[in-house]
Amino acid sequence: MNRRVRVAVLAGGRSSEHDISLASARSVLEALDPERYEAVSVAIGRDGRWELGPAASRQALVGAGGSPAETLPIPTETVPATLAAIDVVLPILHGPFGEDGTVQGLLELADVPYVGAGVAASALSMDKDLFKKVMRDSGVPVAKHVALRLGDAIENPFGYPVFVKPARLGSSVGITKVHDERELGPAVELAQQHDEKVLVEEFLAGMEVECGVLGNRVPPPIASLPGRIDTLDHEWYDYASKYDEGGMELVIPPELPQETIERVQQLSIDAFVASECEGMARVDFFVRDDGEVIVNELNTIPGFTATSVYAKLFEASGITYPELLDRLVQLALERHERKSQLRY
Ligand SMILES: Nc1ncnc2c1ncn2[C@@H]1O[C@H](COP(=O)(O)OP(=O)(O)O)[C@@H](O)[C@H]1O
Ligand SMILES: [Mg+2]
Repeated sequence: MNRRVRVAVLAGGRSSEHDISLASARSVLEALDPERYEAVSVAIGRDGRWELGPAASRQALVGAGGSPAETLPIPTETVPATLAAIDVVLPILHGPFGEDGTVQGLLELADVPYVGAGVAASALSMDKDLFKKVMRDSGVPVAKHVALRLGDAIENPFGYPVFVKPARLGSSVGITKVHDERELGPAVELAQQHDEKVLVEEFLAGMEVECGVLGNRVPPPIASLPGRIDTLDHEWYDYASKYDEGGMELVIPPELPQETIERVQQLSIDAFVASECEGMARVDFFVRDDGEVIVNELNTIPGFTATSVYAKLFEASGITYPELLDRLVQLALERHERKSQLRY
């Protein structure tokens, strides 16, 4: 392409991770080389309304200036009006209504190339219950869990401590480390405020390690160096540890034997392939003291500022943040081209 690539960055969104998404998107807009990219931003409000930003600037996402538009739920005339002129969309949206296949479905309907996992992989990876079931079937080790659906009696076959979490959320919102039976009921109630389905999950002691994955199916995706999450004085990797200044430290690579590091990298790719992800993902692990590696979850749109874990892991692996963006845009265009060959 000789002319500049026209990208639209989708940011904000309806989930509680709205603000984190705005921060990620601002970083992306700043890093896109203006010589090569013509960027617009679309800020999605917590009410689901879309606001088209004027240009590729930080300003575009801090409020002022955009023209409010209605949400784009179906491909009416407004879709071509806003998206048809775009070469590729970067949905930098975390959590429900962004990372869960909903926006991806809209972009499929509009036939616009977009960065990251498709509809099914997004929905699967967002759902900690379904994801673990598919991983078990694919030989990828995950924590034992039970899913409590609407109307189910509370059960905990795992003893204490145990983790209780909403099935489809992120940023540790609605999650409780339950220390004894008394805390179980309130923990389930809290999680149910965020999702009708709740997981009770065995406690996994050990090191928390995260690994980046980049690529499509062919050629095979690559894994970054992994990093260890040090939650410092936080008991677990809760919201404050994730987002407070100085709440965590990332140690790259983790202090683990080479074979364990390679196991983490291999399982990252296995989980990525088994969940049918494309583009990018960050795969999160527990490494037990005996060296056993267990997948916790896969994030299809991980925190994406220049200083987020995903970017730091690839930086340490020799791929800079602007280069990551270049590659992700290429991967999105390649996938769209590949799938346009299919006959439906
Ligand atoms: N089964 C578990 N055993 C030990 N710690 C857990 C377990 N599940 C979650 N945690 C802790 O809670 C954090 C958030 O849980 P996670 O399932 O990754 O949800 P989120 O999508 O909100 O990041 C983890 O990073 C970890 O610190
Ligand atoms: Mg997590």
